[in-house]
Amino acid sequence: LKKFQPVLPLYFGWFVNQSTKLEMELGFHKILKQITKIGSLKEELEKFCPSAGEGIDSLLHRYAVPEGPFHITAKYNGLKPDKSEDALEYADKDVVKKSLGQLFQISIIGYILTPSIIGARIRLNSRQKQLWAQDDTEGLDSLSNNKTEVNLALTTVSNKEYTCEVSGKGKCDTFKTSFRPTHGLGSRAHMTLGCGPDSQPVQTGLDLVDIIDCESKTSNNFHYMQIEGAKVRYYGKGRCAIYLEDFVKVNTIFSGFYV
Ligand code: A2P
Repeated sequence: LKKFQPVLPLYFGWFVNQSTKLEMELGFHKILKQITKIGSLKEELEKFCPSAGEGIDSLLHRYAVPEGPFHITAKYNGLKPDKSEDALEYADKDVVKKSLGQLFQISIIGYILTPSIIGARIRLNSRQKQLWAQDDTEGLDSLSNNKTEVNLALTTVSNKEYTCEVSGKGKCDTFKTSFRPTHGLGSRAHMTLGCGPDSQPVQTGLDLVDIIDCESKTSNNFHYMQIEGAKVRYYGKGRCAIYLEDFVKVNTIFSGFYV
């Protein structure tokens, strides 16, 4: 009897539908709008993302929305998946076969904004982690300079008074939230929402690894800026992390993307 080989996708992942995509865009536009109103942060971002200081429209103009549905890549197979043992092995796992076409509710815990990308940061639950097969620490070895950069960011931004026109608090406080994801299974999980000039979606994962590294090298006392519904930390070199106070739940379908 002839054994058929599975047709493998470019990647497996969790996909959102068009209306959720639009809702997500509205959600992060609301956050970005507030960020572009924080005086000292705006100045700093302008250095790394030219014209970001002119408001949300010019900031968004820098980032192209990736083609296709928003998704979280769970396993990237590459353009020749049929030649990859690794991809075949993944597709053959029981948990993968049982999950294809299933509904998963995922949690968006925040956003990251860097000169290269805008991404939503995801917290996977234990079932979702069983499907996760991306490299959570890719590029970590080359980030030894982060501590110096982050300290530098503190002196350039936190010594100035934060003026957030939306919250009106205008103060600089310490970061007290207990949720501090560290490098580990699924810590790189994200959705790419926008790509800056000459940047590819794959950069979002690498920039998230970089930001988690900054988090691990800073204390709880690292300064943050309060905006409506979220806290913002600036790690230097145009890198911002936004921590949502209430996670956003989004329905997704686990599937494959074929080219
Ligand atoms: P991400 O999941 O961060 O958005 P492309 O269209 O460039 O081929 O990529 C398809 C998807 O697979 C994108 O979502 C992308 O990033 C992810 N991806 C691309 N290249 C890689 C890679 N080398 N390693 C991991 N994920 C990748």
